[in-house]
Amino acid sequence: MNRILTKNTPNYLEKSVRVSGWVNTIRSHGKIIFFDLRDRSGLVQVVFTPNLKPEIYGLAQKVKPEWVIEITGKVSPRPKGMENPKIETGKIELRAQNLEILSQAKTLPFSIETPGYEVNEEKRLEYRYLDLRRPRLRKNLEMRQKVIQFMREFLIREEFLEIETPILTKSTPEGARDYLVPTRLQPGKFYALPQSPQQYKQLLMVSGIEKYFQIARCFRDEDPRANRQAEHTQLDIEISFVKQEEVMNLVESLFISLIKKIYPEKKIQKIPFPKITYQKAMEKYGTDRPDLRKDKTNPYFLAFCWVINFPFFKKDEKRRWTFTHNPFSAPKSEFMEDLLSRKNIKNILTTQYDIVANGLEVGGGSIRNHRPDALEAVFEIIGYEKEEIKNKFGHMLRAFEYGAPSHGGIASGIDRLLAVLQNEPNIREVIAFPKTGDSRDLMMDAPSKVSEKQLKELHLKILPR
Ligand code: AMO
Repeated sequence: MNRILTKNTPNYLEKSVRVSGWVNTIRSHGKIIFFDLRDRSGLVQVVFTPNLKPEIYGLAQKVKPEWVIEITGKVSPRPKGMENPKIETGKIELRAQNLEILSQAKTLPFSIETPGYEVNEEKRLEYRYLDLRRPRLRKNLEMRQKVIQFMREFLIREEFLEIETPILTKSTPEGARDYLVPTRLQPGKFYALPQSPQQYKQLLMVSGIEKYFQIARCFRDEDPRANRQAEHTQLDIEISFVKQEEVMNLVESLFISLIKKIYPEKKIQKIPFPKITYQKAMEKYGTDRPDLRKDKTNPYFLAFCWVINFPFFKKDEKRRWTFTHNPFSAPKSEFMEDLLSRKNIKNILTTQYDIVANGLEVGGGSIRNHRPDALEAVFEIIGYEKEEIKNKFGHMLRAFEYGAPSHGGIASGIDRLLAVLQNEPNIREVIAFPKTGDSRDLMMDAPSKVSEKQLKELHLKILPR
């Protein structure tokens, strides 16, 4: 007899079936023992009566919560008045005929019956595989898949090509710190993990791909902050021969149709999404990611907005120019002359656009500089020497000399978008195996020390702190 899912048991009334899963709860009424058996589809009630074979009834008496068992039993209607409308299988129960114990379980370090917000989060992360048994977290993972599948299908319908780009790449200054990867075959040299596929997707435009997307993992050695992870997932998009408005419209219509399909109960406050300039946002809300919800208590409300017209450059703590978002962005066309002649730097505005949902930045992009002289001007303004520009970005400048289309794109933070859509207080709740604020994986105990032998192979030495 093949195993069936608990949710399908009502289709087998008066028949014998085999189900497997975890013992969710145990109750006894006199000599009758009830288990709620849990599998990926839900729960079913199993009943053991003393008139069963003594070895089976005896075994049932020993079972503890979270043991993994297999039951053969007859699907029977529940006695009148004993139905449970709260569960899908609440009209039936399984009269046990056989019980097999597949695995025993220690007492769990915390309860998995509640949504779990009250449990110490470090404990939850240390035992994440148990934490994920919570229906809330399972639901978050299911919704994550639905959202990503929708994005994929939407973009493929629009003739985008999904392309994987390397995880081992080159260290280039892109905003955050890089994670570096030493390599045995090239001692003293390092790969970097990509902060985003930014440069590869632009190079794919030079290849003539025209419409690229990727569900891309990005790595940033950032200081801990709310809703930041050492690795996050982006819906990454790049398009050739495109205008700022077109990129924004594409993402806006993707978000709207996604929410209509997957979150029909949600209400988007304003369509089309309002556009606010950076200057206006700072003056009016004191932030470049304003929360425009009229009613912040209502979990069904979604207020999106675009923030545009960011300054291209700002001064860093050492009073040197640095870029505000992305060194590859083009200035707004009316500032191109200023950029090329390195004038009026403070007032140059970029084509950067950010998308904000309920006060969280859930995406950002720009039209790019596809002219090598404009890109070079950006690097010079931020203080790179000619030689340094060649070392760090020579591959981009060279590529742009062989016929680069105009292009632009955007990346949306999938973890953040999901946290907003699932009404979760932070992105860790929508990631299967998140890291702590200081980027540790408590379950795997990473990062961790490596052996002397491994270090030697890499020609590395650890200095004392
Ligand atoms: P940006 O750096 O703005 O742009 O990232 C795009 C979006 O990714 C999300 N995000 C993060 N989510 C979780 N943890 C993090 N550490 C983190 N960092 C960013 C945010 C953000 O809006 N290459 C450009 C995109 C482009 O110009 O096309 C880029 O990565 O939601």
